[in-house]
Amino acid sequence: MAEENKSSLDALSALCKRRGFIYHSSEIYGGMPGFWDYGPLGCELKNNVKQAWWQFTVRGRQDVAGLDATIIMHPKIWKASGHLDTFADPMTMCKDCKKLMRADQINDIYAEQKKKPQPKAAGSDFFCPYCGGELTEPKPFNLMFKTVVGPIDDPANVAYMRPETAQAIFAQFQNVTATSRQSVPYGIAQMGKSFRNEVTPRNYTFRSREFEQMELEFFIRPDEAVELLHGKVATLADNPDLDGPVQDDWGWEVWHKYWVEQRKKFLNAVGLPTEHFVEYWQKPDELAHYARACVDIEYDFPFGRQELEGIAARGDFDLSQHQKWSGESQAVFDDPLKQACKKLSDEEKRAFVAKVQADWAKRGKDAAAAEKFCLDLFEGKYVPHVIEPSAGVDRLMLALLCEAYEEQKISDGKGGDDVRTVLHFSPKVAPIKVAIFPLVKKDEAQDRMAREIFEKLRKKVNCMWDVSGAIGRRYRRQDEAGTPWCITVDGQSVQDGTFTVRERDSMEQKRMTYHEFLAMMYGALEF
Ligand code: GLY
Repeated sequence: MAEENKSSLDALSALCKRRGFIYHSSEIYGGMPGFWDYGPLGCELKNNVKQAWWQFTVRGRQDVAGLDATIIMHPKIWKASGHLDTFADPMTMCKDCKKLMRADQINDIYAEQKKKPQPKAAGSDFFCPYCGGELTEPKPFNLMFKTVVGPIDDPANVAYMRPETAQAIFAQFQNVTATSRQSVPYGIAQMGKSFRNEVTPRNYTFRSREFEQMELEFFIRPDEAVELLHGKVATLADNPDLDGPVQDDWGWEVWHKYWVEQRKKFLNAVGLPTEHFVEYWQKPDELAHYARACVDIEYDFPFGRQELEGIAARGDFDLSQHQKWSGESQAVFDDPLKQACKKLSDEEKRAFVAKVQADWAKRGKDAAAAEKFCLDLFEGKYVPHVIEPSAGVDRLMLALLCEAYEEQKISDGKGGDDVRTVLHFSPKVAPIKVAIFPLVKKDEAQDRMAREIFEKLRKKVNCMWDVSGAIGRRYRRQDEAGTPWCITVDGQSVQDGTFTVRERDSMEQKRMTYHEFLAMMYGALEF
């Protein structure tokens, strides 16, 4: 978004409604807070974002396999993951106006109010930001949507709409490992709907109750296994080449940084330049208890800087929890590790155990557990650790829309000013790739040739046909939709087979043949 328009979420949301990107869900019934629908252009943009992520994360690599699991899963999954006990926000209610709100967002709501209310009770510093009334004690409110499976409405049949796609990946880890011909280090990726019953959904589509995630769980060897295999563990201090092929001696720290860099490359590729987002490394006291490191990629939305995606190093927490709660082993067998350990003498093994015990003691872990872990490693067995890049489709779409939106002041050609509203989407995600027009609608030869081009091109990419209005107005309609190229068939076209290609951002026109255009377009769409 151009700097002067950065604050104008209103202008962007008006365009999104007018052009069919985003509508309120169930609008004819007054809408539902926290639920949004994507219209014709929005669903194309969404599909393109998801396809781009899948291409970049799964198909474009040899070490990631895909999964598409159900939204409702066995409720024990949420016990094992910790969501049943701890996935809650502190909720408070105003005793006067009865508004519900998150206790941890009250300061933000104060800041948003044009006129700050005074507390009704003297001396109170925790009062309703809407009316100044007294607030109830904050209580944890679990964010999972509950439902009942089957016809009997009984607590035994309660299940939950998944609050993240990640857990299905852990729950299916052994099946995918057995059937994908992959071995650690490798990843499993999933895209799909998730649901969180937000107390106060806010900021347009940013925090919705129904949303879509794109998550990768990339399973790696514990550092101790890497050390047994290679005699050392590469860390960031070794300056590993993160742009080259992945290396077998990388420890978790390098894998984590590698995935941060991969995610940044992806964001660049879909249209977010690195200088427009912030890489925030969580401080040790901000990390979840099981996380070793977490990087938030944050974007300056018009409503403030917010997390776009997170890349977390989660150790073996998730698979170990599922092993504990399901009773099913989540360990893998790593033959190269077993072969390497066969070469160790008893004395070397004893020294290794003592070293691991000393390391684990620093983290408050018990010596017997450390010894059992080492004995399993010598047999080639361990529960993999995981790096989790987790992105929200809707958040990324909103960031791409904010980034793309511009109101340009241009000349109207008659000495006055005009405003051109344009969405500068990367061609890779643009909802419509090409619009095709005959310059003169009533010219049969132009119409026939333009239609032939349209019919050929629409088999390859999403195209738009438009014959209505002056050519300048047709260009403007496509600018607002973010269409990178407009093809116009004119008098010269029917003579020599070339046509003009008008480029959205520069507004320049170039004359091309069909094959020249295809080569240019495919070049711009490739990852
Ligand atoms: N799996 C991480 C998240 O949903 O935020």
